[in-house]
Amino acid sequence: MKVAVGADHAGVRLKDELIRFIESLGHQVADLGCHCTDSVDYPDYAIAVCDQVVAGQADKGILICGTGIGMSIAANKVPGIRCALVHDLFSAKATREHNDTNVLAMGERVIGPGVAQEIIKVWLETDFSNGERHANRINKVKALEDKYAVHP
Ligand code: RB5
Repeated sequence: MKVAVGADHAGVRLKDELIRFIESLGHQVADLGCHCTDSVDYPDYAIAVCDQVVAGQADKGILICGTGIGMSIAANKVPGIRCALVHDLFSAKATREHNDTNVLAMGERVIGPGVAQEIIKVWLETDFSNGERHANRINKVKALEDKYAVHP
């Protein structure tokens, strides 16, 4: 699987650790930055990762900032992205099964690398349940993108 990964300055250390872990699972990683702890703006990195996912250049995206919250808010503005902010294993599995999320957000200031690795492994390895009720709900979420789209 191709995984695009991005972080701001508050998530860059965890990102760099997690990239090695994701590669050790046999996945290909695109590291879209940032690459140091100088202050940057998390939406820039959220959009870089989401653009790759929407374009099909990456199968999934992983975003890390201090809390994961800013990244998840920004990612969910991108049509076609379903991003979950996850800090526990139950949610990591459930959000793949129920929401078919294609982007995962986490906070470096919230969890340590051990839990983050377990979350990533479960999230990458869990398939969408594909049940009719879940697909129907996801289609309703997709319909919101059209309803609230701003057409210039
Ligand atoms: C940066 O200080 C911090 O605000 C950012 O990483 C993130 O937590 C925002 O949601």
